[in-house]
Amino acid sequence: MIIGIGNDLCNIERIARSLDRFGERFEQRCFTEGEIRKARKRMRTAETYAKRFAAKEACAKALGTGVPRRGVHWKHIEVVNLRSGQPTLRLTAGAAVRLAEMLPPKHIAQIHLTMTDDFPWAEAQVIIEAMPEGNH
Ligand SMILES: CC(C)(COP(=O)(O)OP(=O)(O)OC[C@H]1O[C@@H](n2cnc3c(N)ncnc32)[C@H](O)[C@@H]1OP(=O)(O)O)[C@@H](O)C(=O)NCCC(=O)NCCS
Repeated sequence: MIIGIGNDLCNIERIARSLDRFGERFEQRCFTEGEIRKARKRMRTAETYAKRFAAKEACAKALGTGVPRRGVHWKHIEVVNLRSGQPTLRLTAGAAVRLAEMLPPKHIAQIHLTMTDDFPWAEAQVIIEAMPEGNH
């Protein structure tokens, strides 16, 4: 059963400007160590961050909270790529608490994420699914 959906568009030029102006302070405030490592080693650093920024906003919408709000902060929502390249979301701290609150009893969450970019836009969509325990 789907219990949350969210999408977001992020302007890549805005992210590039934040990187120029605030550099590491911006990176550290919004992104996890893993996200920073991935973005810095890419040529398209701003695009990589913009997709992840959009993913965090989309996830916050799916959680029904917004960021930073109700104990949910940017770094509590992390994009982690599988070996295939497929992106997934790892929720910690306030975001994980909010997710647990949304789940019906005896259900676990499966979070689906897809992202793309086409300058100047990056886009992400998130679907949160509740699956009966032991039935997945
Ligand atoms: C997945 C694929 C369709 C993406 O197409 P694209 O038009 O180049 O990419 P887009 O800019 O629209 O999207 C890029 C995002 O797609 C997502 N993506 C990458 N691989 C994916 C996969 N196997 N499944 C789902 N999503 C994937 C990622 O989130 C990526 O952004 P990120 O690397 O910053 O996390 C394309 O790369 C592909 O067909 N790959 C084949 C598998 C492959 O080459 N794997 C290499 C690693 S083993």
